[in-house]
Amino acid sequence: MNFPFEPYKIKVVEPIRCTTREERCRLLHEAGYNLFQLPADGVTIDLLTDSGTSAMSDSQWAGLMVGDESYAGSRSFYRFEAAVRSLCGYRHVVPTHQGRAAEHLLFSALVKPGMCVPNNMHFDTTRANIEYREAEALDLVVKEAYDPHCELPFKGNMDVGRLEATIERVGPDRVPFVLITITNNSGGGQPVSMANIRVTRQLLNRYRIPLFFDACRFAENCWFIKEREPGYADVPVREIARSLFSLGDGCLMSAKKDGLANIGGFVSLNDAAWARAITNHLILVEGFPTYGGLAGRDLEAMARGLEEVLDEGYLRFRVGQVRYLADLLERGGVPILKPIGGHAVYLNAKEFLPHLPQFQFPAQALAVALYREYGIRGVEIGSVMFGTRDPHTEQSTHPNLELVRLAIPRRVYTNSHLMYVAESVIDLLQRRDSIGGLLLTYEAPQLRHFTARFEEAALAETSVHSAGIAVLPR
Ligand SMILES: Cc1ncc(COP(=O)(O)O)c(C=O)c1O
Repeated sequence: MNFPFEPYKIKVVEPIRCTTREERCRLLHEAGYNLFQLPADGVTIDLLTDSGTSAMSDSQWAGLMVGDESYAGSRSFYRFEAAVRSLCGYRHVVPTHQGRAAEHLLFSALVKPGMCVPNNMHFDTTRANIEYREAEALDLVVKEAYDPHCELPFKGNMDVGRLEATIERVGPDRVPFVLITITNNSGGGQPVSMANIRVTRQLLNRYRIPLFFDACRFAENCWFIKEREPGYADVPVREIARSLFSLGDGCLMSAKKDGLANIGGFVSLNDAAWARAITNHLILVEGFPTYGGLAGRDLEAMARGLEEVLDEGYLRFRVGQVRYLADLLERGGVPILKPIGGHAVYLNAKEFLPHLPQFQFPAQALAVALYREYGIRGVEIGSVMFGTRDPHTEQSTHPNLELVRLAIPRRVYTNSHLMYVAESVIDLLQRRDSIGGLLLTYEAPQLRHFTARFEEAALAETSVHSAGIAVLPR
């Protein structure tokens, strides 16, 4: 058997609504061809994100009932704090309502205009929050990360040589800290090795620069360390996690991923002065330090989730399920990013739709077609998310990779759902020549992918030109 079966039984079910192609065409048109703007009820299989979409366990649901909703000193906070401390080992734990709030708080305390924050690869909200502070967000992942065919076991690694050159170039005073994202979501859910983290730490010690983790998917990263890094096969994942965190000065986490919770996040760190600054700001924007923008029951669910996620039977299945979908797709000749990451399969839109130029957003066009034909929602990680347009010169930039991420929510879909997904993508591949491009008709100044609007390229030629706001080829 090449597929590990689900290590749980299903106790509660949620019906899936099926739609017609005609209905989906209408919904797409109303949504401006932006899948974030679709009503979720119009989606059959939702692979938009693995964030906040996990199915909670019976223990987590039970935990909701014993959540303590006291404004100050909630019992659930102490339980949550103990769970985070035992996982990461840092002294201070600051709850937030989700990951980007943690980013906002940490960056407000440490990042000043003109500074530079290196990462293996920033996630969109991380980048946006740094740029909002008028600082530079630099991606310094190993160059192989940009080659969708290169099969490295730790393709999320930091390029330590480039990191050193960057610190020398900008000066250590302008680098308030370095981030490492585990796993590297924007680069295909690829893990970072313990050896790479250790070498990064040693380098940063020389310059006295702190190291933080963007730890949304720490457990999946640690599972890959166990599977792939020499010397870790017999080490429990919990111990691997502890060693990993011990190499940093703190972490940010969206618990909506490996916290197995539907909402929540935190900052955890050792430095008392930074913790104080963050906590004071927290009170202003999120809430009192023992709830941080969450209900007591959410803290309870997170505390239990952070323990459950280290169950090795669960992790084996989790990573195995993603690999199963990838295997089915590969057997059908679908171009995907290799190797397979921890939480998602990434379709390589440049190869799937070679007839579409980047200015027509091939990955967005592919995601739209997948929804229109089969009701499956993925997310574009390409020119819409990471491209830019200068409003003065109207020049556009495009990232190297044009990907559609099919993120697998944790404990939500079964093997047969994934078979449906694989069959649909393979079917679409046969008909790829009929897929047209898209033109951007509206973009917000930050995080444009959430609210951007598009028109189909053939339709847009006239109407968008006259509106004068289309991103057209130069
Ligand atoms: C690597 C990474 N960092 C930060 C975030 C932001 O977390 P949140 O969506 O909880 O604000 C995400 C969300 O997907 C992420 O994948």
